[in-house]
Amino acid sequence: MRISVIGTGYLGAVHAVGMAELGHTVVGVDVDETKVAALSRGEAPFYEPGLDELLRKHVGTERLRYTTDMAEIEGCDVHFICVGTPQRRDGLGADLTHVDRAVDALAPHLNGSCVVVGKSTVPVGTARRLADRLAKLVSSSADVDLAWNPEFLREGFAVSDTLYPDRLVLGVSTQRAEERLREVYARAIEATTPVVVTDLATAELVKVSANAFLATKISFINAISEICEVAGADVTQLADAIGHDERIGRKFLNAGLGFGGGCLPKDIRAFMARAGELGASHALSFLGEVDAINVRRRERVAEIARELAGGHLIGRRIAVLGAAFKPESDDVRDSPALNVAGRLQLQGAHVAVYDPKAMENARAVFPTLEYAPAAVDACRGADVVLHLTEWREFRELDPRELADVVAARNVVDGRNCLDAAGWRAAGWTYRGLGRP
Ligand code: UDX
Repeated sequence: MRISVIGTGYLGAVHAVGMAELGHTVVGVDVDETKVAALSRGEAPFYEPGLDELLRKHVGTERLRYTTDMAEIEGCDVHFICVGTPQRRDGLGADLTHVDRAVDALAPHLNGSCVVVGKSTVPVGTARRLADRLAKLVSSSADVDLAWNPEFLREGFAVSDTLYPDRLVLGVSTQRAEERLREVYARAIEATTPVVVTDLATAELVKVSANAFLATKISFINAISEICEVAGADVTQLADAIGHDERIGRKFLNAGLGFGGGCLPKDIRAFMARAGELGASHALSFLGEVDAINVRRRERVAEIARELAGGHLIGRRIAVLGAAFKPESDDVRDSPALNVAGRLQLQGAHVAVYDPKAMENARAVFPTLEYAPAAVDACRGADVVLHLTEWREFRELDPRELADVVAARNVVDGRNCLDAAGWRAAGWTYRGLGRP
């Protein structure tokens, strides 16, 4: 099939190359010339495992090209909208400017029979509104359906989540849209892959509900972690124990610094805002608590660091290991690690940060922090070492070697995954979250 992908951010860049890998002829469009230039050279504009290899395989062949010229989408059978829906600057809801602009820019180029498919995460009701907007904008020669097909890809696993989805959700209003989408994903659908065919509103809600549930699971265990802290219990053992119950499951029960990134925090806030608009804010008021628990963990890590530094942070040196919001990503959007680093700096600490992949992005949003060339350099002379993003490199650090470079052997394991016994044996004061 001939496919266009509008937007080449995390979602669109991966989706376009994923569609090429599935055998389609794809054009990716973005207004950002720098991104398009990088992708056209076969280079990913961000770090995502496996993406560079796939780009090198397909860019430059007839399968895949990137452009800033919207006219190049003409003649495609399916158009995917993959633009961002960030949190609004003036409130908690989603900013739909990019989605609206994409539809407006796309409409004049639509002709013949085609399907426009939204993949961006949007407030429920957006798809219906966009379908009406398209109907008004397209020429009478075009026969256009609008469908919603939310993505569930995780950064760090985005390529495999695209090629081997654990489920497909097709929000459609016509048989033709369903058939086209099944054809698009034919090579990705295995006999066991669940395909949920539903209406537009349900498809939109599936996405935000999934993210709200994941956020709730993390904040649930972090709330229990607060109780463990005051009761002298161990939240990691507790999570293992309750996770053995298949109805609960162990995944997303890792207590620690909590969630960040470009999806979970903004999605739960946009979901609450939309519920309010629909007159049902009471239904999602618990998500306000989920958000609050999450933010409290950041405060708590800063508090433990202050305690270990002797009660105040003025003039103290703090090493922050990790800047990305999670490992295997260079994304620093709403990064819990950088948030903690900023809090400590505000309280007078000298903060040195190291991350294997996210240094450039971190420096761009937080230029006042010091950035060290390696983990050991960040730790040199530190009064407290904070482990805030669980890169493998940090788990493999030798606490005996680090002991020689720090000013004081204090470590806070914000992700509860360092070998506590090993660090203690090397003379460190080890503090996890929700652990005695
Ligand atoms: C998320 C959803 O998982 C994905 O399905 C959706 O499409 C986009 O949003 P992503 O933002 O890439 O994906 O990250 P995810 O792996 O979900 O992690 C989110 C945050 O939660 C990270 O900051 C991570 O460190 C944190 N987390 C995750 C925990 O604190 N504890 C856990 O047990 C799991």
